[in-house]
Amino acid sequence: MTELAPTLPLNDGNRIPAIGFGTYPLRGQEGVDAITSAIEVGYRSLDTAFNYENEGAVGEAVRRAAVPRDELFITSKLPGRYHGRDLTAQAVRESLWRLGLEHLDLYLIHWPNPSVDRFAEAWDALVTAQQEGLVRSIGVSNFTEEHLRRIIAATDVTPAVNQIEMHPYFPQTGMRAVNAELGIQTEAWSPLGKGSAPYEEEPVATAAAAHGVTPAQVILRWHVQLGSVPIPKSATPSRQAENLDVFGFELTDAEVAAITALGRPDGRLFGGDPDVHEEQ
Ligand SMILES: NC(=O)c1ccc[n+]([C@@H]2O[C@H](COP(=O)([O-])OP(=O)(O)OC[C@H]3O[C@@H](n4cnc5c(N)ncnc54)[C@H](OP(=O)(O)O)[C@@H]3O)[C@@H](O)[C@H]2O)c1
Repeated sequence: MTELAPTLPLNDGNRIPAIGFGTYPLRGQEGVDAITSAIEVGYRSLDTAFNYENEGAVGEAVRRAAVPRDELFITSKLPGRYHGRDLTAQAVRESLWRLGLEHLDLYLIHWPNPSVDRFAEAWDALVTAQQEGLVRSIGVSNFTEEHLRRIIAATDVTPAVNQIEMHPYFPQTGMRAVNAELGIQTEAWSPLGKGSAPYEEEPVATAAAAHGVTPAQVILRWHVQLGSVPIPKSATPSRQAENLDVFGFELTDAEVAAITALGRPDGRLFGGDPDVHEEQ
């Protein structure tokens, strides 16, 4: 087993592992096997969503794992079509049922869907779900500063986490600063850049050679040093272990800055602008 990731404090007193395991699109028996392998390798944080249609596979892997439930940190996410007080309450319960769990460690509003404009009601329902003990921490995903300030003003409850697209081509310098100012932990989705990972880019390749690690490890270490929590997905056990094994070396400030400088305005993977993207 790879060494466990350290944990970071959240603004509600709970803690989150500094690296999580992304589970999309791992489904069915193959998905259960891959997620079970991730837990065996040493991941303690698993990221799923109602819309990934794999909460069942995640729950099965959790039951199979020789790790007590209270040592695992399970995140799921609210689909767009369930925004609204009653609908959101239903979705939380349905996610729990599909996972076969009594509580979630983190539940996120998956996308704000501003054209529907019911994310504030959804947030209010998550505040209630947290009070009921169904969810330990509540947060959001793909929220801009405007979305964040609106739900905080409406409820006086600040999300613990904002999970956003972040990788070297889209380093999210502005949103990371907003999250930090508000006391929100940034989580990074597609932290390796998915299919377009910048493994061959000069600052990544040079740092990999200098530290005797792989380009993927350099990118994940870059996230850790910037204070974001990456949630890499891999169906491959050797890569799962590689991606978790980033706590034994440190990038220099210059290396971190050179990787951040790979960012570009059109660096998003698929045009997932939270002001316009709609997640059903
Ligand atoms: N909140 C949101 O809106 C949102 C959106 C997208 C994703 N997410 C979450 O973020 C998670 C991660 O994002 P992602 O899956 O899109 O992208 P990713 O983690 O950046 O990249 C995954 C891809 O990289 C490959 N890979 C993993 N480790 C590698 C390594 N060490 N060397 C070479 N290739 C490697 C994987 O291949 P193999 O599997 O073949 O090893 C897979 O093809 C998702 O699983 C999901 O949980 C959230």
